[in-house]
Amino acid sequence: MIILRLNGVAKMIELKKMSRINAEISVPGDKSISHRAVMLGALADGDTVIHGFLNGADCLSTIDCFRNLGIETEFNNSTAIVHGKGLYGLKKPSITLYTGNSGTTTRLLCGILAAQDFDSSITGDASICKRPMKRVNIPLSMMGANIEGDFCPLLIHGRKLKAIEYTMPVASAQVKTAILLAGLFAEGTTRIIEPEKSRDHTERMLEAMGADMTYDSHSITLTPGKNLKALEIEVPGDISSAAFFIAAASIMKNSRVVIKNVGINPTRTGILDAAIAMGADIKLENERISNNEPICDIIVKGTKLHAAHINGALIPRLIDEIPVLAVMAVCAEGETVIADAAELKVKESDRLLAIYSELIKCGADITMTDDGLIIRGGKPLHGADFKSWGDHRMAMSLAVLAQVTSSPCRIDDVDCVNISYPGFFDDFYGLEAK
Ligand code: S3P
Repeated sequence: MIILRLNGVAKMIELKKMSRINAEISVPGDKSISHRAVMLGALADGDTVIHGFLNGADCLSTIDCFRNLGIETEFNNSTAIVHGKGLYGLKKPSITLYTGNSGTTTRLLCGILAAQDFDSSITGDASICKRPMKRVNIPLSMMGANIEGDFCPLLIHGRKLKAIEYTMPVASAQVKTAILLAGLFAEGTTRIIEPEKSRDHTERMLEAMGADMTYDSHSITLTPGKNLKALEIEVPGDISSAAFFIAAASIMKNSRVVIKNVGINPTRTGILDAAIAMGADIKLENERISNNEPICDIIVKGTKLHAAHINGALIPRLIDEIPVLAVMAVCAEGETVIADAAELKVKESDRLLAIYSELIKCGADITMTDDGLIIRGGKPLHGADFKSWGDHRMAMSLAVLAQVTSSPCRIDDVDCVNISYPGFFDDFYGLEAK
């Protein structure tokens, strides 16, 4: 898709409307797993080969930061090779590390850098500089870390760390992982207790690399001392990217999509549970395990949706899918209540406000609450001019919404889809039934 720019600012473009979709597709690799494969690969002994690495801007920021920490990574046709140097192989960067738009890169790096025998600094784009870092600074400082700044830019004075037992106030895989990464270098056994289970890709990858750890539904225990083994990793398709096609096929009449090789780690499949609770027609086929992660093909057919309640332990399992779930709710009969989702206010944009502001533009009936949204679905929807809020998941969700409005929709800045899904619009419009 060609994006027109006027004086460097992306102009409004029309979001094409398809008649119906009927296709088979593979989505790009999982963003969370791709980040972790580079970071843990850097700390492992030897070469970690990552097949299906996500070529999105966020994961490229992680590669770039590790290059500046002395770790070379080759990247070709979705295979990345990370030349790991072991736990103590990082070198002091000569510049401030730049993490772009990536919260995962920023927060996970804090855990690693806090334990090095050198000082370093991190910054990112305008959105990253507004995202709270205190949530990692608090537990890391309990471990003895010295990090200046609750927002980027951060100045990190490397220190010898000690293990802690930490009960997390909010379920967050980024915070949990930052503590675990610091725990790899700390003296003693680190234990983390989560209020609700968040994505556990770090635990699974550390286990596969030979770390001394145990984990269950709410807690993780890690004892340092073991070197990490390099791995050959197959990154599954990202269920957060598949979610746009799951939603589109569900709300578009006579539609069907087969999405191949999608990761279905139970800490990530909340979108499937929520969609099924709304009446979606979803089947899983060819289930298998690869590198400790479950994978399958997902088959979705268009159907009539109804409202559902989305809250509690389900929220961390679909935290990134709420924008597109809200689009499904707008098309579903009845009142969908999304609650316990205040975390959305501190994502790439304030997603509660962004969803509310954009969806009401086309006639949706929505109330924004302190921790979620109430969506009265089934109302007539008309075209509108949307803002992406520079947020990749908002831009892709609005492209799905544009399929069900009575008149055309336009959107301003869609370049942001490159954060997690370069080529999204080609793939999306390629789904149209011939
Ligand atoms: C991520 C964890 C989630 C998610 C983010 C990626 C990760 O953030 O929203 O897109 O890779 O650990 P929180 O765990 O902070 O909610």
